[in-house]
Amino acid sequence: MEEKVPGIKVLVAYASTYGSTQEVAEAVAAALRDAGRTVDLRPMREVKSLAEYGAVVLGAPLYMFHWHKDARHFVTQHREALQKLPTAVFALGPFNDKPDEWQEVRKELNSELAKSPWLAPAAVEVFGGKFDPDRLRLPWKLVPALRQMPASDIRDWKAIGAWGNSLASILSPIG
Ligand SMILES: Cc1cc2nc3c(=O)[nH]c(=O)nc-3n(C[C@H](O)[C@H](O)[C@H](O)COP(=O)(O)O)c2cc1C
Repeated sequence: MEEKVPGIKVLVAYASTYGSTQEVAEAVAAALRDAGRTVDLRPMREVKSLAEYGAVVLGAPLYMFHWHKDARHFVTQHREALQKLPTAVFALGPFNDKPDEWQEVRKELNSELAKSPWLAPAAVEVFGGKFDPDRLRLPWKLVPALRQMPASDIRDWKAIGAWGNSLASILSPIG
């Protein structure tokens, strides 16, 4: 279903170093489209203006206890527009299904979001991440503890699709 009203297009903006968050952003965008929303999917770095959007989904992984630097930059750069738009946020992080790790990762994301108290996302979600020691870049590939960790991918595509679908009604256009 194509929406004709200007200003209600949803932007799914993502940051991704190794590509796993990009794939999750693609799945979130597909779920929103399935639910009838018009969606643009773009890397945060390439977004210059939010003028044509009626809602924004921000997705980025956590690295060393911080949200990806592109996400931090995006939130600062687009503060004025984001304050007026409905938003949703997701982060990728945990490598395994231990409840303690998920709690820690949620804390990490919450403390990152607390740095921008003016941003009031209507939904915040953490998804499991993907890790491949063979693809580590510098400086991380010099860290033995990281190199010795097993490869894993605990992205839950069903949960990702369901969350993306739920955003279709949560991110209602303002006005
Ligand atoms: C060097 C390194 C540091 C990481 N640090 C964290 C972290 O502090 N917290 C966390 O939850 N996940 C952390 N992760 C996991 C990533 O968020 C996860 O692998 C994610 O899927 C990567 O997304 P990308 O493929 O889009 O770059 C780290 C991963 C790497 C390789």
